[in-house]
Amino acid sequence: TTTTTSPSTNTESWGSRVGLILAMAGNAVGLGNFLRFPVQAVQNGGGAFIIPYLICFLLMGVPLLWIEWSMGRFGGKHGHHSTPFILDTMDRRSFWKYIGVFGIFTNIAVASYYCYLESWTMSYVFHSVAGTFAGMDQGQVASFFEKYVDVGVSTTGIPYEAVIFFLLCLILNTWILSKGLSGGVEKAAKIGMPLLILFGVFLAYKGITLQAGKEGALFGGSVGLNFLWTPQFDSLANPKVWLAAAGQIFFTLSVGMGTIQCYASYVSKKDDIALNAMSAGWMNEFVEVVLGSAILIPISVGYLGIDRVIELTASGGLGLGFRTMPFLFSQWGTFIGAFAGVAFFGLLFFAGITSSLAMGTPWMGFMQDEFKWTREKAALSFGIIVLILGLPTVLFFNEGVFDEYDYWAGTVSLVVFALAETILFAWVFGMTKGWKEINDGADLKVPSFYKFVIKWITPFLLIFVFVGSLIGPAG
Ligand code: PHE
Repeated sequence: TTTTTSPSTNTESWGSRVGLILAMAGNAVGLGNFLRFPVQAVQNGGGAFIIPYLICFLLMGVPLLWIEWSMGRFGGKHGHHSTPFILDTMDRRSFWKYIGVFGIFTNIAVASYYCYLESWTMSYVFHSVAGTFAGMDQGQVASFFEKYVDVGVSTTGIPYEAVIFFLLCLILNTWILSKGLSGGVEKAAKIGMPLLILFGVFLAYKGITLQAGKEGALFGGSVGLNFLWTPQFDSLANPKVWLAAAGQIFFTLSVGMGTIQCYASYVSKKDDIALNAMSAGWMNEFVEVVLGSAILIPISVGYLGIDRVIELTASGGLGLGFRTMPFLFSQWGTFIGAFAGVAFFGLLFFAGITSSLAMGTPWMGFMQDEFKWTREKAALSFGIIVLILGLPTVLFFNEGVFDEYDYWAGTVSLVVFALAETILFAWVFGMTKGWKEINDGADLKVPSFYKFVIKWITPFLLIFVFVGSLIGPAG
């Protein structure tokens, strides 16, 4: 038997239910929704992707949301706010604590490349205001990006610009984390999420209504939308498409890392989780499926054509928006163009920061609870570790380090953790107790067939995805 540490002196909590849902939605809604989803869709055949994606959402995403939220609240009841000890409260065998520690490191590893991506959005807000893109043609916009990430030879005028913005971004994250949950993370989400929806709806409208021959566009918005949304049933037979779909669902919902557990551990004992989990999860899907598919692809396809977009996403996928969008904006004139650039990259920035803050929470909770570190010390140590682990993604971007992180930390690790926690929840803790935890205080009647799904379908799909990921990369 293991001894549990004394319930913590950690007194953080969420300010309000709205704040909690926005923070959780902010956690989920991120660069994954706007940059990763469209690129995954393009790489996996457009319409071919949508069906496995939706199936993975319903059979793995939704169950994992309920599992993670209820585990988190359960751990919080016992005074724990970090994954190792939250898992420990469900089963005392020390194996689960190691799984929890693995989860903390996954968060740190994902943050290490994610914060770099986030720092691009900061830099592009700056360059939009500075008018850097005004008057550039499509080729110049694309090569600006290539120079930017080729750190050593940056010709953007600022030496080591990519490193500087990465640092700034980490400082900002550390500072907000040090302000705590309701005073920092929740506030950031309350400001960021509404702005993001506002900018998002505006840009989605521009994407959908794009017209061939107007504003320099070659194709209308419907060309890209049809490409993305025409379902192809034969894709169901392709394992590669399934892996990519499952990976995207985990990434976008932020499941399989323990972040949700940590957030949910601050929910009070009697509060609902069933409905809250669905509110945040479906808000994420709305942003991903509606806004995420109406902006980047229709606009990029409109200006470059489907073939060129496929070609661009094959090499350095996540950079697509940085290579194309500033050109579109510059078509709208200096002033409106600058405004649109700030709106788009600002949107990405808000989406990104509310997610990277979430990645800091498991480490923060662990240090505060188990080592009695102060918030400031915990936040600072997170910033420093992410800086050290993140620098290789900045300095060796062109050598593919960034994509390696995205594959191992951002895809494979999530599947491993998700599989472990599902077994813990449904088989070790047991579905009878588990089902009670999910429904305790629920403001939503959870369909009872999900009891069956969580025990028999989710774990086996996860095994299938895991084995598949060993056989070959999802990309
Ligand atoms: N869900 C976030 C996104 O879509 C990424 C994320 C993953 C955040 C894991 C927290 C934990 O960008």
